[in-house]
Amino acid sequence: PAGASRSVSDGRLVVVSNRVAAPSASGASGAAGSGAGGLAVALQAALKARGGIWFGWSGKVSQDSNAPVQERTHGSVTYALSDLSRRDLDEYYHGFANRALWPICHYRLDLAKPSAPDSAGYFRVNEFFARRLARMIRPNDVIWVHDYHFIPMAAFLRQLGCANRIGFFLHIPWPSPDVARALPAYDRILRAMSAYDVVGFQTEGDAENFRNCLVQAKAGRAGGDVWREAYGRRFQVDAFPISIDAEAFAEEARVAEKNVLVKRMRASLEGRPLIIGVDRLDYSKGIRQRIEAFASFLEQSPLAAKSRVTMLQVTPKSRSEVPEYAKIQREVAEQVGIVNGKLGDVDWTPLRYINKVMSQSALAGLYRIARVGLVTPLRDGMNLVAKEYVAAQTPDDPGVLVLSQFAGAAQELHSALIVNPYDIEATGAAIARASSMPLAERKERWGAMMDVLRANSIDNWTARFLQALGGDAELADS
Ligand code: F6P
Repeated sequence: PAGASRSVSDGRLVVVSNRVAAPSASGASGAAGSGAGGLAVALQAALKARGGIWFGWSGKVSQDSNAPVQERTHGSVTYALSDLSRRDLDEYYHGFANRALWPICHYRLDLAKPSAPDSAGYFRVNEFFARRLARMIRPNDVIWVHDYHFIPMAAFLRQLGCANRIGFFLHIPWPSPDVARALPAYDRILRAMSAYDVVGFQTEGDAENFRNCLVQAKAGRAGGDVWREAYGRRFQVDAFPISIDAEAFAEEARVAEKNVLVKRMRASLEGRPLIIGVDRLDYSKGIRQRIEAFASFLEQSPLAAKSRVTMLQVTPKSRSEVPEYAKIQREVAEQVGIVNGKLGDVDWTPLRYINKVMSQSALAGLYRIARVGLVTPLRDGMNLVAKEYVAAQTPDDPGVLVLSQFAGAAQELHSALIVNPYDIEATGAAIARASSMPLAERKERWGAMMDVLRANSIDNWTARFLQALGGDAELADS
């Protein structure tokens, strides 16, 4: 098999992801087209420690599809960014990645819109990026590819003669074989995943789903351990649950009590309890069901209506050029209007709905002043908002997390109030329970969740994956 069993932990690290947290020309940190969170910080730290390259899309569309790679070096790290043509972006990102892979991996076969040009575009863009990357790689480099945009990256790199250790981490769920089989180019995708040395998932359930896909495709033998042999290669399939730096986030939340926006929010509440939800505007997040559950809570508990509980839903728009996203944006906006019209009063807007992107500091402060955090996706790889909400709480008077059983985070945060987000009334009842939970129970639940977060920080996650990828774990196993 091509996967070498030597240790290469002395090589550079090469990170590949669609969005790159490249510092601006002035040196300020950021991400090409999206906010940089804990993951970006952790990857930057790993890159700085070993030296390396962060390679991906520039976030820009260019007329000239052959515009050169834009390289920027800061200390030991080079950021290498490529523009995409409008057609490539539409087929690879809006099309295959976000109208086929995303809905199917989130169990939404009803929303999948596969198309032959999009499939072709996805593999074409991956090959294009692989060719560009291959020119920059040295024999000892360790390559870490992130997320569903770049599944075939290793297969193309192998075709170009790359024998480096290459790992893949999927940030979103991997479905059971019966659902995964609906993916366009399914066989090619499975085979492409076998070109990696380590294939990492958010939860053991996702990893097991993938192992079962290999078994069902008669491409790998069944077995209890994490090693698989398929398509002529031997590789590791394991769960690496992503996390946050809980201590750093807690400190950010503490300081953020003084954040102007947080102070304004607190003042505007005039002592009313706050419930918070924060999500990209995505159909996988269960925002419509959550609003219904909040309305059900208000209708079920007259006390809540009397105390004029307020729910703040912060929901930056996302992937608006994809029709299914444009639709959910209209639907949520309409539903907010219906609930406020039905339940609000001249001096009370039960649901405050905001499409703005907010700073991490403002969000940390808002989590801290919220009595209840609602994280109720219909399906989610991990969901770091759940972990951030917990870390942001005041130890003496913590709020309560209401968490969907379908978020990867529910595999770790057992002390949250776990709900089935499809069951509107039960979720409404959980909000009621969270709102009136006695202090002792809140402290106990929060303490147990903080222990989990402290035991698996984002730095552990990076270290564990890189250890597996470095070859050390393989040496230990064989
Ligand atoms: O959760 C998956 C993910 O791709 C993240 O990696 C990313 O930050 C987020 O969705 C935002 O999506 P997009 O890059 O499409 O804006």
